[in-house]
Amino acid sequence: MAFISKSSYLLIFFFLIAATLPDLSSAYLKLPLLRKTPYPPTPSEALSADSRRVSTLHQLRRHFHAKLPISSAASFGSGQYLVSLHLGTPPQHLLLVADTGSDLTWVSCSACRQNCSSRATFFPRHSTTFSPYHCFDSSCKLVPHPKEHMPCNHARVHNTCRYEYNYSDESVTRGFFSHETTTFNSSSGKLVQFQYLSFGCGYNNSGPSVSGPSFNGANGVMGLGGGPISFFSQLGREFGHKFSYCLMDYTLSPPPTSYLFIGGSKYIGAKSSKLSYTPILINPLSPSLYYIGIESVFVNNVKLPISPSVWAIDELGNGGTVVDSGTTLTFLTEPAYRIILATVDRLVKLPKSVEPTLGFDLCFNVSNELRPSLPRLSFKLDGGSLFAPPPRNYFIDAADGVKCMALQPIAPSSGSSVIGNLMQQGYTFEFDKDRKRLGYSRHGCAVP
Ligand SMILES: *[C@@H]1O[C@H](CO)[C@@H](O)[C@H](O)[C@H]1NC(C)=O
Ligand SMILES: *[C@@H]1O[C@H](CO)[C@@H](O)[C@H](O)[C@H]1NC(C)=O
Ligand SMILES: *[C@@H]1O[C@H](CO)[C@@H](O)[C@H](O)[C@H]1NC(C)=O
Ligand SMILES: *[C@@H]1O[C@H](CO)[C@@H](O)[C@H](O)[C@H]1NC(C)=O
Ligand SMILES: *[C@@H]1O[C@H](CO)[C@@H](O)[C@H](O)[C@H]1NC(C)=O
Repeated sequence: MAFISKSSYLLIFFFLIAATLPDLSSAYLKLPLLRKTPYPPTPSEALSADSRRVSTLHQLRRHFHAKLPISSAASFGSGQYLVSLHLGTPPQHLLLVADTGSDLTWVSCSACRQNCSSRATFFPRHSTTFSPYHCFDSSCKLVPHPKEHMPCNHARVHNTCRYEYNYSDESVTRGFFSHETTTFNSSSGKLVQFQYLSFGCGYNNSGPSVSGPSFNGANGVMGLGGGPISFFSQLGREFGHKFSYCLMDYTLSPPPTSYLFIGGSKYIGAKSSKLSYTPILINPLSPSLYYIGIESVFVNNVKLPISPSVWAIDELGNGGTVVDSGTTLTFLTEPAYRIILATVDRLVKLPKSVEPTLGFDLCFNVSNELRPSLPRLSFKLDGGSLFAPPPRNYFIDAADGVKCMALQPIAPSSGSSVIGNLMQQGYTFEFDKDRKRLGYSRHGCAVP
């Protein structure tokens, strides 16, 4: 594939790294991970953004039937985690939505040359290393093109590679598929450059998902999916096909600093005794997404009567459970959702909220409770480990004195269950593509 044809560049890069880091197996990249204020998102904001996104996860599979080489599952709302990235020469600082549900990394670009006022964008003309791919370049085949894409004339120098990336809510980013130098702080504390990061330089980004208030503060998206053009796949060639992050718990004050780590077998290895593992499952119809298997669900340690078959991926690619950093809430397949809600409803003795419930099915009036006692939800995953997040990962304050169960149903025939970023809070997650497993732990969030 295209990126393999770039092996001469990668070789140069290899020597660059090898010169600064004596033991390559211990190398990793460390990028600060932030959560933009104000938090938490209002539940209705999170809900509307998530609904758009979850329907995209479904539509994505239709695209894969059409053999589209990459995915475009991203749809962004409030409640996103942002990664800090330096792009260009000299480096320009950008904040990107960290997204395990899509592959393309793109940044909002401006052609401005002089006296540029907006800082919420990348200025390719201020960088000496920016270069769009030529339409004839094999890398150009990895991105979807606009309909009006001119036939490629490889004799014409300025026939650049144009991309068009669609979202289900009719948001779209368009621009030039390009490459740039990106600069990182390495594990040894030295600055390291990766010279050929392929990314979309987006000149025309429109629609609710990629502009406007819900995208507030972000300059683009970092695609961390499993496909060949994802940020993680590109850098993983040098650092090992592994990345990890801890999504900060925004209710802690002050919030801990956390990082996205790319690579780092030794670093992770030192703590691996503390990680629980479950296999990453492959859905051939959505190869970029990270699926895990749920065996059973417990409420207060009592196993619920949910048939294991409701969690399966069917022959059309529906079902299954995706771990997605770009969705805030958790979506569960309807048969399981109904049983979980009925069980929680039966166990909780608090009065129901009489206010309209903002799109949530189960809300309690906790205005008379200092520390309301809420049931514990846990998931037994494939491989036998137990994911038992604290109640604050699935009960949210929807209004003053109102706590709602932050779960949503998804019809079995219309999509996958999604473990969203609220449910992931306070855990280290390690995505290991080579060993096809997801590690998780309540420890490691405050690692320097
Ligand atoms: C940029 O600003 C300088 C003064 O700050 C001015 O002299 C120059 O004309 C401006 N250039 C453009 C293209 O606006
Ligand atoms: C994006 O959506 C528009 C309008 O629905 C459609 O015409 C276009 O072909 C789509 N582009 C891609 C690359 O799928
Ligand atoms: C590297 O780390 C230093 C200190 O934490 C920080 O000031 C700098 O911006 C970082 N550089 C990059 C490229 O991330
Ligand atoms: C941006 O895309 C829209 C189509 O959605 C098009 O009408 C408009 O002309 C484009 N703008 C630029 C500056 O290319
Ligand atoms: C919660 O209960 C209190 C009385 O205990 C009542 O005044 C308040 O309106 C209730 N709030 C909601 C949202 O149901």
